[in-house]
Amino acid sequence: MTDINEEKFYVVAAKSELDATGQMHVDLNGEQILLCKDGDEYYAIAYMCSHEEFGLEGGTINNGCITCPYHGAEFRLKTGEVLAPPAYENIKTYSVRTDEDNISIGLAE
Ligand code: FES
Repeated sequence: MTDINEEKFYVVAAKSELDATGQMHVDLNGEQILLCKDGDEYYAIAYMCSHEEFGLEGGTINNGCITCPYHGAEFRLKTGEVLAPPAYENIKTYSVRTDEDNISIGLAE
């Protein structure tokens, strides 16, 4: 049986780094990721929107969702599920762990 938890976690940011904008672009081993804060929760999603090749950075975050700043597609931060057009494909999400000060993202080994 395969262990589905075979991920390695990398510290990518201090929590304080997201205080100003609630978002941060992370290049983790070549994966382009957008780290997001919504209330007290942290999420890591694909940096690129699935509609066109534009970044989701700067999108509005509200109620666990992000709205793309370009044409308004909406995605659920926790699952990457697409909720509103013009995007129709879900986006990738990553596991996130936090400790008192730092945020880590998990990548499959
Ligand atoms: S690039 Fe995101 S909705 Fe068009």
